[in-house]
Amino acid sequence: VTIRRADYTPPAWLVPEIALHFDLGAGATTVRSELKVVRNPEAERTGNIRLNGDEIEPKSVLRNGAPCESWTMDGNDLLVSIDGEEALISITTELAPDTNSKLMGLYASNGMLCTQCEAEGFRRITFFPDRPDVLSTYTVRMEGDATTFPVLLSNGNKTGEGELEGGRHWAEWHDPWPKPSYLFALVAGDLVALEDSFTTMSGRTIDLAIWVREADLGRTQHAMDSLKKSMKWDEETFGREYDLDVFNIVAVGDFNMGAMENKGLNIFNTKYVLADPETATDGDYDGVEGVIAHEYFHNWSGNRVTCRDWFQLSLKEGFTVLRDQLFSQDMQGEAVKRIEDVRVLRAVQFPEDSGPLAHPIRPDSYQEISNFYTSTVYNKGAEVLRMMRSMAGEERFRKGTDLYFDRHDGEAATCEDFVRAIEEGADLDLKQFRRWYEQAGTPRVSAALKDGELRLTQEVPATPGQPDKQPMVIPLRVALFDRDTGKSSGERLVVLDRAEASFKFEDAPADAVLSINRGFTSPISLDVERAAGDLLFLAANDDDPFARYEALQELVIEHLLAEAGAEGAVHNDAADLAALGEAFGAILDDDALDDQMRGEMLLLPPVAYLCEQVLVADPVALHKAREGLKAWLGGELRERFEALHARASAVPYSLERKARGARKVKTQALAYLAAADAAAAAPRAKAQFDAADNMTDRQGALMVLAGLDRPERKAALADFHERFAGNDLAIDKWFALQAGSLHPDVIEHVKDLAGHADFRLTNPNRVRSLYMAFAANKHGFHAESGEGYRLVADLILQLDPINPQTAARFVAPLGRWRRMAEPHGTMMREQLERIAAADGLSRDTYEQVSRSLG
Ligand code: ARG
Ligand code: ZN
Repeated sequence: VTIRRADYTPPAWLVPEIALHFDLGAGATTVRSELKVVRNPEAERTGNIRLNGDEIEPKSVLRNGAPCESWTMDGNDLLVSIDGEEALISITTELAPDTNSKLMGLYASNGMLCTQCEAEGFRRITFFPDRPDVLSTYTVRMEGDATTFPVLLSNGNKTGEGELEGGRHWAEWHDPWPKPSYLFALVAGDLVALEDSFTTMSGRTIDLAIWVREADLGRTQHAMDSLKKSMKWDEETFGREYDLDVFNIVAVGDFNMGAMENKGLNIFNTKYVLADPETATDGDYDGVEGVIAHEYFHNWSGNRVTCRDWFQLSLKEGFTVLRDQLFSQDMQGEAVKRIEDVRVLRAVQFPEDSGPLAHPIRPDSYQEISNFYTSTVYNKGAEVLRMMRSMAGEERFRKGTDLYFDRHDGEAATCEDFVRAIEEGADLDLKQFRRWYEQAGTPRVSAALKDGELRLTQEVPATPGQPDKQPMVIPLRVALFDRDTGKSSGERLVVLDRAEASFKFEDAPADAVLSINRGFTSPISLDVERAAGDLLFLAANDDDPFARYEALQELVIEHLLAEAGAEGAVHNDAADLAALGEAFGAILDDDALDDQMRGEMLLLPPVAYLCEQVLVADPVALHKAREGLKAWLGGELRERFEALHARASAVPYSLERKARGARKVKTQALAYLAAADAAAAAPRAKAQFDAADNMTDRQGALMVLAGLDRPERKAALADFHERFAGNDLAIDKWFALQAGSLHPDVIEHVKDLAGHADFRLTNPNRVRSLYMAFAANKHGFHAESGEGYRLVADLILQLDPINPQTAARFVAPLGRWRRMAEPHGTMMREQLERIAAADGLSRDTYEQVSRSLG
C-alpha cells in the first residue's frame, strides 16, 4: 500500500489523555490502556475510531467501563464504534518482549526491557491512533519484579512508587507535555546512573541521569559533559530552555538506529553513550557529543513542535541535524566539522540523490516510513536550512526560528509552517526556494569567470517520478583572488535562481582566480571552467579553509578520474603526479596548518564520491587508482610521512585539539607508508598498536595491519580480540576493521567472521559492523567474482524475517547497479532480482528492492 502526502486528512478522533498500565515480564507483559477520546471538530464525522495495531490482539475492549461488543478488526487495526462526542476506551494486550527481534515496540535487550516507538512502534504495544498529529498527556504505571527490574522509567516526572507483594514493586510517571505516541518510552532493568544536575537560564534545577549496566558506569562522563554543554548551548544559541524536572538517558545494546528523543527519556544505542580513552576513538567521542546534542535538541525541534505527518520528517530531522552540526562546529572548530559533514553528504547523500532511491527532503509517498530515515531527509534537509541561514544571516535566521517555536509550540506542524516562519521572521522571500522541498536530485552548476563577469548555469537532473525540473535557488559565497598577490578582494554572496545568470564584479582583478561555493554554501555539484594551475593556486592560497581543502580534492579527483580511464576525463598537467606530490608535500610542511586540518587535507576522496563524478563508474578501477596514488605519495614523501609519524607519536594522550590532531595525522602517515611499502610499514604499525594507550592509535594501527598480508596482522587481531573480550563496542570494531580491509582475502574473512562465535544476526550493531563495513569496502564488495554482491544479498534474505528495518538498509549498496560498469551492474541487478523473488519479504525490504529495480 502506498501512502501519499496529498491524501492527508486530520484525525477524526483526538486522545487528549492516555493512562497505561504495564505488568512487566520479559516473556510476557500485559498492557492495559485507558484512552480518553473526543471527537475532532475539525474532521469529518465518523462513528468509529480507528486504532492502529501491529502483531497484537485485543484481549479485552471496554467502552465507558463496560465490555464492548461492537468492535471489529480492519486488517491490523481495531475499529471501535462510538455514539456520542467522547468516550473512555480501555484495551488489554499481551506482549512477548523477548521474542520481539524487530526491536520496534517493547523489546528485551541484555535482560532489560525498553521501547522504540518512532515511527510506528507504539502500535506494537497497544491499539492507538498511532500518528504524530494525535497528542496526548501520558500517565504510565509500571509493575514488575523488583530484582529483575529495580529501575522503572518512563517519560516526564516520577509521581509515585512503592513495594508490592511477592518481591514486586511499581512506579508511576506523568508527562505533562502533550505528545504523539512515537515519543512514548519505557525502560525497566537493572541499571545504575551517573547523576548530575543543570541549572537552566531561568534558574530551575534539572536532575540529569545517564542509565547504563553497572560495568559501563565508568564510561559515561563524556556523555554527561556533552549533555550539559548541549543544554547550555541551546539556551545561548536558540533561546531554548529545558522544560521538565528530570532528563534521563538510557544506553541499550540492541538498537536499530543511533538514538531516540523520547520526551524526558532519551534511549540511546550504547555506541553513542559509552566512551573512555581505552575503548573509544576520537571519532567515537565526537559521535557521542553529536548524538547526545541531537537528541537533546529534539526536545524543542521535534517534541515541543512535532510533525503533522511522516512526510514532514525533515521538519524535525533536518532542523535538528543543522542544530547539532552548528553545536559541534562551536565545540570542535568550524572548518574541520564542516569538511566532515560535507564528506558524509557527498559519500552518502549524493549517491542516494542520483540513484533509484532518490526522493525530495519532503517525500511525496512511501510504503514503509522506516525507509525514509535517510541521508536526504536528515543531511540534505540540514543543508536546505543552512542555505536559508546563509541568505538571511545568523541574526535574522534566529528571528525566524524564534517565530517558528512561538507560533507552533504544542502543535504538529509542517515543513511549510517552518518555511513561512523563516520567511516572516527573517524577512526573506522563499517562494521559489520551496522547490528544495519538492525536487529531488543534486543540482549541477557550471561556472566561468571572464573579465570580471561570473556566468552561472544550473541543471537539476531527472530523478524517479520527476523527469522535468525547475531552476532552484542556489546561494553561493564567492571570492576572487589576485593571481599575483594571492589576496582576495573579499567575499560576496550571489544567488543563482534561474537556469542561467551573470554577475558582474566591478572590482575584479584582471585574470582573477575564482573561489566559489565557499564553505559549501549549497549542496550542489560544481563544474568550474578553470585555467591550468588555478586549483593549485587555491589549494595554496585560499583563505576559506573549506575552499582550500576543496581545491586539493578537485585536483586529486581530476587525477584519479584520468588515471582510471573514466569517460571524458583528460590528463591535466596541473594534476599530474609531480604537481600532486608538491601539493601534498606543502600540506605536510605547512606549519600554519593545525594537524586537525592537515588530517582533512591528507584524506583522499572516498570512492563512493569518485563514482558520482561519472555517469557509469568502474568502482574497481577507481579504487585501484586511489590506492595507486596513495602508494605513490607514500613513497614520494616517505621521509616526511616518517617524520610526521614520529612527531605525532611523541604527543601524549589528551582530548585537547592538538593531541587529537596528532593522532589523526599519525595513522594517516602510517596508512600512506603502508600503501607504499607494506614490509617496511608493518613493524611500525605493530609498534604503534603495541604502544597505544588509547583506542584511536590502536584502532588506527589495526586498520592498517588488517589490510596487509603480513604476519603482524594475525598477532594484532588476536591481541585486540583478547584484550577487549566482552566489550561489545570494541568487538564491533574488530569485525568492522576486517570487513573493511584491503586484504586480498577479505571475502573469505567475512564468511569466516559470519560464523564466528561473537557474531549475532539479532544485534544490529554487530550486523552493521560486519556487513556495512563490507558493503562500503569497494575492494571486497565489488570483487570481480560477484561474490561480494551475493554475500550482501544472502544477508538481506537471512536478516529480513528477523529485523526487516535493518535488513532493508543493505539494499541501497546493490541499488547502485545502473551506475556501475559491466559486469558489475548486471551482477548487482541479479542479486536484487533474487531477493525480489523470495517469498514473504517484509514491506521494508520489498519497497527498497522494487524501487531499486525500478
Ligand atoms: N528520531 C530519531 C533520531 O533522529 C531516529 C529514530 C528513527 N527510528 C526508526 N525506527 N526509524 O534521532
Ligand atoms: Zn533526529
